Amino acid sequence: MIEAIRKYNHVCVLKGGWSNEREVSLVSGAAIALALRNVGYTVTEIDVDHDIYNVLKTLNPEAVFNGLHGTWGEDGCVQGILETMKIPYTHSGVKSSALAMDKVLSKKLFASIGIKCAPDKIVSTSDLYQNDPMTRPFVVKPNNDGSSVGVVIVCDGDEISPDHEGPWLNSDTLMVEKYIPGRELTVSVMGKQALCVTELKPKQGFYDYKAKYQDGMTDHILPADLSDSENLAIMDMAVQAHDILGCRGVSRSDFRMDGDDIYILETNTQPGMTPLSLVPEQAKYIGMDFDHLVEWMMEDASCER
Ligand SMILES: Nc1ncnc2c1ncn2[C@@H]1O[C@H](COP(=O)(O)OP(=O)(O)O)[C@@H](O)[C@H]1O
Ligand SMILES: [Mg+2]
Repeated sequence: MIEAIRKYNHVCVLKGGWSNEREVSLVSGAAIALALRNVGYTVTEIDVDHDIYNVLKTLNPEAVFNGLHGTWGEDGCVQGILETMKIPYTHSGVKSSALAMDKVLSKKLFASIGIKCAPDKIVSTSDLYQNDPMTRPFVVKPNNDGSSVGVVIVCDGDEISPDHEGPWLNSDTLMVEKYIPGRELTVSVMGKQALCVTELKPKQGFYDYKAKYQDGMTDHILPADLSDSENLAIMDMAVQAHDILGCRGVSRSDFRMDGDDIYILETNTQPGMTPLSLVPEQAKYIGMDFDHLVEWMMEDASCER
């Protein structure tokens, strides 16, 4: 087979950073760098700090693989530096990254094209301490990812106060969402194509509201056990979500399915890229190994202008 001609040879992998997701990003970044080397790139790994502009200026790569997650690496900030330096980079650009990171704004965009979202209320933290904004169970989310404590599912008997862990400790305003019972599904989009639907099932069978899967206690079922029409509908919603946000490269959207109703939770513009992450798992399902997924993403790198 004749190898396609590459656009890039010397590339940098951005990893780490200082968000809550630093540790995952270090694992993603190491795996990405290894894969890029396996397929022949000259790779420099950068554990990103505030001096990233100077580091990139010195290294002068032809392109950057952004392996960062969370604040600053996923919200348009690092993308702005790369645009300013005219260094092509992977994944979404400045505006899409910022929009996707803002759950309130991205839900408005999803709703505008008819994708169902969980009903929500934006509340001040002081009001939340006084009264429940809706009947329990509900979900409290930080408005952006600036918090050290993320999503919390509030059930009967749970306390919301400055003495209890929750996103309220770090934000003045919060998004409170109706809890959607049912199944948890996720879909990766690569370019214009949805890869497949994975169902995430807590291993202990019973979903106890506390998002147990976040501790890694989860089975990944792919393809999810869905009818053809459900499968197509969810994959189409993921592509529409990717498009309305203006995403580039790979994204991954999370859904809840309650009976026939499918709700989008969010689109991740920098989804996990450890070899065990959901995107590589779905790529493998359609016949693309990790090295070639990473190579595709690398060659897809560009600047917006
Ligand atoms: N409205 C909701 N109803 C049911 N579960 C939810 C809801 N919102 C979030 N969750 C649970 O919390 C997890 C994380 O929420 P998500 O909105 O994807 O935020 P993030 O992944 O950025 O922390 C979801 O994957 C889901 O299991
Ligand atoms: Mg999520």
